[in-house]
Formats: sequence, C-alpha cells, structure tokens
Amino acid sequence: MQGQAQTMERISSFIKSFIKDDEGKLGQIYLEAVKNQVPVMRPETRELLKTQLIMKKPMQLLEIGTAVGYSSIYMSNYLAEGGKITTVELDEERVKIAKSNIIDMDKQDVIEVIQGDAYEVLKTLPDNYYDFAFVDAAKGQYINYYPDVMRVVKSGGVIISDNVLQDGDVLESHFTVDKRNRTIHDRMREYLYTITHDDRLDTALVSVGDGVAISIKR
Ligand SMILES: C[S@@+](CC[C@H](N)C(=O)[O-])C[C@H]1O[C@@H](n2cnc3c(N)ncnc32)[C@H](O)[C@@H]1O
Repeated sequence: MQGQAQTMERISSFIKSFIKDDEGKLGQIYLEAVKNQVPVMRPETRELLKTQLIMKKPMQLLEIGTAVGYSSIYMSNYLAEGGKITTVELDEERVKIAKSNIIDMDKQDVIEVIQGDAYEVLKTLPDNYYDFAFVDAAKGQYINYYPDVMRVVKSGGVIISDNVLQDGDVLESHFTVDKRNRTIHDRMREYLYTITHDDRLDTALVSVGDGVAISIKR
C-alpha cells in the first residue's frame, strides 16, 4: 500500500510538472491565497476545469464557494461572449477581498459576488438558468445544495463538484475516519452515491487534485 501511495504521489508531481503557473495579477492572487492559507482550487483541477469550460463555453455560470475570487476570475476567461458568473461566499472578509480582486482584474461587469450561506442563496436563484455550476464550498453541505443545484442548472448543463475524494478519506470506512470528520465523510459518500445514481445525470468521478465529479444534466 505504501508503495502504491508513493507511486500516486509521483504521478501527481509528474502531472503538475507540466502545468504552467498563472501569469500576472491572477498568479499573484493565487500565491497570496496560498500564503494566507485560503483554500483555492489546485493547479491540476484548474486544468481539468479549463477543458470543460472550453467545451461548454458557459453563458451563465454559478459558483458555490468564491473564497478570494481566484477561481471566478480564472473561469471568467472561458465564458461565452457576454457570459456572466454568479458566485456565492459565506465569509464576509473573503467577500471583501474577492470583490477587490475582481475590480483589480476589471471583471466587475462579469462576476457578481453574493455574500451569504449558499444553502439559503440557492433558494433565491431562478430555475433552469445556469449552464455550468462549480460546487466548491463546504464539503459536508454538497448533499444539501444538491436539490437546488439541480433545479437551477439547465438540461445539458455541467456540474463540477470539487474535493469529492477528501484526500482519500472518503475511501476509508466510517469508523477509521477521525471522529470530527465522520459527518463530512458520510455526507460526501451520500453525495457521490446520489450523483452517480440519479437518472437525471451522467457523472464521472475523476481522481484529479482532491477528486472531481463531472456531471451533465440530461
Ligand atoms: C475551497 S474554498 C473555494 C475556493 C475557490 N472556489 C477557488 O478555487 O478560488 C471554499 C469556500 O467556501 C466557503 N463556504 C463554506 N461554507 C459556505 C456556505 N455555506 N455558503 C457559502 N460559502 C461557503 C468558504 O468560506 C470558502 O471560502
């Protein structure tokens, strides 16, 4: 097992060695976030997301979990012409930083940040409106966001859920997971079961970064 884990680690480093860093201000936002221990998407996740965005060219993109705006700003480069992003963040301090970063990058007409609990905010969003959703907030809440994410995403829309493998924790038995993380573990397993068994979706689970689920709404 140890040898297998090391091989996986080496594969991951090998893949990362091909990824170019973000340039300019976006690169600075990323580095600043990492320095301040703000969780932002991993470079290999970013690359996978980019390919999905280029294929889909979303017009209306919903993000759950803005943090400091890094992923929103990144994704805004791959929208259809005139496309918009709505992104939701609970933490007031992060919202301030995200808004300032968005203005710095001159993306204020493209990205709208809504401050609030995604569970509540989602209920206020219109039916069948978004053609792309990036779910990247509290992992234990994905299953609670799910009914509304399904409601607001159009038929043919893409739903990307990040961090679904929880650094491998999700593979372990409920009892071997640290007690504090058991609820998240159980809810993530329920989420994975739901998105892979719901007849309204086609889903692939991909072992990239911290695990990504790519779902297409039928
Ligand atoms: C992994 S970070 C998002 C990273 C960002 N998408 C990026 O890659 O640049 C998750 C964010 O979700 C936010 N969050 C946690 N619970 C939330 C909730 N209930 N509603 C909205 N945002 C939430 C956290 O404050 C955190 O900033």
